[in-house]
Amino acid sequence: MTELIVPPAALQPSQPGVTKFLADSVRKLYIGGRWVEAASGKTFPVINPTTEQVIAHVAEADKADVDAAVQAARSAFEGPWGRMRVVERTELLRRLGALIAENADEIAELETINNGSPISIARSFVGSTVGTIDYFAGSARLIHGETPSNDPNYLTYTLREPIGVCAGIVPWNVPFLFAIGKLAPALAAGNTFVLKPAEQTPLTAIRLGELVEEAGFPAGVVNIVTGFGLGAGSSIAEHPDIDKVSFTGSVDVGKRILAASAVNLKRVTLELGGKSPNIIFKDADLSVAVPTAVAGFTMSSGQICVAGTRLFVQREIMDEVTEKLTEFAGSLRIGDPLDSATDLGPLVSQEQLDRVTGYFGVGAADGARVALGGAAVEGTGYFVEPTVFVDVRNDMRIAREEIFGPVVSVIPFTDEDDAVLQGNDTLYGLAASVWTNDLGRAHRVARGIKAGSIWVNNYFTGDTALPFGGYKESGLGRENGLDWYKSFTEDKSVYVTL
Ligand code: NAI
Ligand code: MG
Repeated sequence: MTELIVPPAALQPSQPGVTKFLADSVRKLYIGGRWVEAASGKTFPVINPTTEQVIAHVAEADKADVDAAVQAARSAFEGPWGRMRVVERTELLRRLGALIAENADEIAELETINNGSPISIARSFVGSTVGTIDYFAGSARLIHGETPSNDPNYLTYTLREPIGVCAGIVPWNVPFLFAIGKLAPALAAGNTFVLKPAEQTPLTAIRLGELVEEAGFPAGVVNIVTGFGLGAGSSIAEHPDIDKVSFTGSVDVGKRILAASAVNLKRVTLELGGKSPNIIFKDADLSVAVPTAVAGFTMSSGQICVAGTRLFVQREIMDEVTEKLTEFAGSLRIGDPLDSATDLGPLVSQEQLDRVTGYFGVGAADGARVALGGAAVEGTGYFVEPTVFVDVRNDMRIAREEIFGPVVSVIPFTDEDDAVLQGNDTLYGLAASVWTNDLGRAHRVARGIKAGSIWVNNYFTGDTALPFGGYKESGLGRENGLDWYKSFTEDKSVYVTL
């Protein structure tokens, strides 16, 4: 087994903007175009998971601050934003995209320092948001009402109108990308927005607020409320004057948000967890399948909703795949996420470290065997080893529950039917991958698996034009694609007597 590289003392950020950003004593809320303290005056600390040091203090929004943010968003919606021509508002969005591109390295470093994701990954996620903005700015001129003409006595047409005040509640694993993924279509369609980042990772959301300001959006179009789930988050979910909430995070909280939405029948979309099957048939090209399978469960230390955490391997190639898998996973570099050679950074928090390491005991107690890893890394930072469990059955807890760490369960299957049956035997349905050179089989499995995204001979591929979301308890609705833009609009029918 390859030796683990214990994280060195934390590297310093290379971007002067990051150092400057972190030097500010308390980071405020962005409400109605102004930076304000929380009404309660409370703040909370932000921790760098690599060093376990406090790197910032941030205002803690509660119900009163959410109320103020919603009021600001409502007046902007009824006021200047609602009266703007589509070209003007999409021009503002594109200006925001350009500012993100200009500051991408700085935003990526801030993200890495705050959530521990390797800088190479943070860069690619942050970079992709520029294209997301461009796509939805373009959608605003593509999607419009229609004029069905079925009765000569009437002029009939539809209007596609913004919904009103929309909110996004996002998690800590990919904070900036999720924020833009919700904000861009909402604003493009003419809504105003309230963003609540996760309490663990508020920094790039605050930086986003600064860029929104610099781009010149009217006050109140975008509001940023940093705070906890119970408090800022629950006040959004329960708010009677928020028209839509889009959430990414855990299944439990997703269900709570859906229940709370009943207060005013908010539109709700949920992007929740997964336990995605990655299925390798014996005819697959293992030289690509195996390293990709490793990336599938180790990228961002496995803190990715679409991670391929159930690896189904056809029985005949089980030994070969397990050997190559543990060899490759064991060669990954664990280290400072600011180092571009690092493959695995720390988990985001002590809480996640405890959760993930807790599953090592659970797996062992259920009779699974650790073929690689299975422990936290000694020393500072919330680091955990890439971990491969073998002798796993699909009904064990480690194969059923989302662990959200760099942990894979390797499970044998006999034939195609067995692979689909076991792959679908889960409460989740976010993504799946199938590795085979048999064309018919690839498409049959793609049809057979109940999941929102299916990858054939690849993993993690994504495109803003294609819908993304889950079957079953992996979510409600789809993000991305033109339908995502449409989900931020109301469709109105007008009948005019001629
Ligand atoms: P979480 O679902 O509690 O947090 C996600 C967001 O929801 C945060 O902004 C949080 O402040 C907010 N939130 C929490 N409680 C809320 C409430 N009652 N009302 C409104 N908003 C609320 O996720 P957590 O506890 O940080 O992670 C637990 C597990 O959830 C992870 O181990 C992982 O399995 C899963 N998860 C899945 C994610 C995904 O990408 N689908 C992202 C993060 C976590
Ligand atoms: Mg939680």
